[in-house]
Amino acid sequence: TNRTFTMLKPDSVEKGNIGAILEKITASGFRIVAMKLTHLTTQDAQAFYEVHSERPFYGELVEYMTRGPVVAAILEKDNAVEDFRTLIGATNPDDAAEGTIRKLYAASMGENAVHGSDSDENAAIEGAFHFSGREMF
Ligand code: GTP
Ligand code: MG
Repeated sequence: TNRTFTMLKPDSVEKGNIGAILEKITASGFRIVAMKLTHLTTQDAQAFYEVHSERPFYGELVEYMTRGPVVAAILEKDNAVEDFRTLIGATNPDDAAEGTIRKLYAASMGENAVHGSDSDENAAIEGAFHFSGREMF
């Protein structure tokens, strides 16, 4: 479909990078369908990253994602999921292409500034978790 879900992670909020990152997202052709500042509970973060629950970094990942608020948003564009993953760059900022959001704003693999859904199915699930129909425009 033409929608994806993103979170500007706690490090982006802490560093004051929300404005710069949103500017880059909208300048890249994404329309903001829904958006809010929200603080994930431990249970939220555990469920969100359930797929990584057996990995050694899971506890650290949950701590990171719950240490402060995130900006959650639904974005619209043709080919949204794939194009947004391209815009944010590789999971590890050391491997991210020049000009990508993670290259510009991420400190490390463990603090990588932004989330982007990895499939249309997950984009719909993640968006619906955070927003009701009346909050999408
Ligand atoms: P998300 O958009 O957040 O889902 O990132 P991703 O799809 O690029 O990566 P993935 O889903 O594989 O991993 C989810 C998150 O776990 C990453 O964004 C990292 O924050 C974290 N992570 C992944 N691998 C490692 C690792 O080896 N060490 C640490 N500390 N964190 C990791
Ligand atoms: Mg992922």
